[in-house]
Amino acid sequence: MSPTPTPPRDSEKPFEVTFSQRVYRLPPYMFGRINNLLYQKRRSGNDVIDMGMGNPSDPPEQLVIDKLSEAAADPDNHGYSKANGILNLRREVAAKYFKKYGVRVDPETEVIVCLGSKEGFSHMCLALVGPGDNVIVPAPYFPAHMYAVMLASGNAIALEVADSEKFLANIAYTCEHLYPRPKLLVINYPHNPSTVTIEPEFYVEVVKLARRYGFMVISDLAYGDVGFDGYVPPSFLAAPGAAEVGVEFTTMSKGYNMAGWRVGFCAGNAEMIRALATIKGYYDYGMFQAIQIAAIMALRHTDAAVEKQSKIYEGRRDVLVEGLRRLGWKVDPPKAGMFLWARVPDKWLARMSTMDFAMLLLDQGDVAVSPGSGFGPAGEGYLRMSLVENENRLRQAVRQIGRCLEREEARWQQEKTQPPLPTDADLEPPPSEASLERVES
Ligand SMILES: Cc1ncc(COP(=O)(O)O)c(C=O)c1O
Repeated sequence: MSPTPTPPRDSEKPFEVTFSQRVYRLPPYMFGRINNLLYQKRRSGNDVIDMGMGNPSDPPEQLVIDKLSEAAADPDNHGYSKANGILNLRREVAAKYFKKYGVRVDPETEVIVCLGSKEGFSHMCLALVGPGDNVIVPAPYFPAHMYAVMLASGNAIALEVADSEKFLANIAYTCEHLYPRPKLLVINYPHNPSTVTIEPEFYVEVVKLARRYGFMVISDLAYGDVGFDGYVPPSFLAAPGAAEVGVEFTTMSKGYNMAGWRVGFCAGNAEMIRALATIKGYYDYGMFQAIQIAAIMALRHTDAAVEKQSKIYEGRRDVLVEGLRRLGWKVDPPKAGMFLWARVPDKWLARMSTMDFAMLLLDQGDVAVSPGSGFGPAGEGYLRMSLVENENRLRQAVRQIGRCLEREEARWQQEKTQPPLPTDADLEPPPSEASLERVES
């Protein structure tokens, strides 16, 4: 028998996994602290009111769920589907664009189905952006807008969207002064997180700038189905010439309550759609066909439910705005979307960051919100509160926030009125070792 060979010394070292540079480029996940505490609280049985994510809590219409069951029972629907999405679903998307915005898109070449619009957006960035490319993204930013650009090795330039006129002027200024000129502009209205909305003329200006400076445009219309007080968020594609310079992403996650189903769409410029289709062809085999069939039913038959859902968010918006104003906060009611973007009162900002403030509300008030800093430096000073909990729970959340802050203020007062802690000079000299021995014996 031959002796067992001695293993090479290297195998004694722990095996090292190294990531690609693109993973190392990603900044730390800002919502990690909040999510960990939320998880711990829930595990220990606390009933946390969750206004963190924009994750709809209401179900889709029953007829959509029934169609999904029926289609899932059909053996023909279980193979790989088309990576672009089935033609009938793309036709339905084109029909909605025409009905809602008067926009004509060709379902064969100008529409593609994505596994949620976030997937589509990220892969579109891979298709359009490479090392050294500059991309303008909105600030504060929905994380995917920034990170998809970074993952594609592009440079993201975040421009503030709070004032739409200034935003347009800053886009022009950046194009005039930056080399290489931005290749792509990402816009998102109704904006997440800041809830800023725009009128159709804004998009006319965007198309003009795109033509003047030669950048492409991606419009993220994720909240296009959620408008309040008669406001209908406009489509970028309705601006003259928009489909020559860009595309638009829409989703069934928000207005149709189908977030977990992962159904999104991209429509507009045929070449950009083709580039996305090429990338997607390498990464995925398309969406489960039963979901696509049920999505057709939802687009065709549930307009009234989508409107009703907007009304529900509108009601929740009113409850939350009124409640926070009663606490003395200054909040503007948004015209669309699923969030409130609330300025944290100055007396709290003078003491702590919005991250610490959000941690305080969660830890002491059992209310989860997103600190504005999670959306980049332009978000500091604000909290994003989602409208996914029902009106009663939102009222309860306001009470819990009020009580939590009152307790915290009382604690400050107490700290102020307590005598100052003694300094070293006030203290007795420490006992000698000999005296200590005496005490012990
Ligand atoms: C601005 C914005 N874009 C895209 C998405 C992602 O939507 P989807 O579920 O279609 O991936 C969200 C979801 O929160 C969003 O807020």
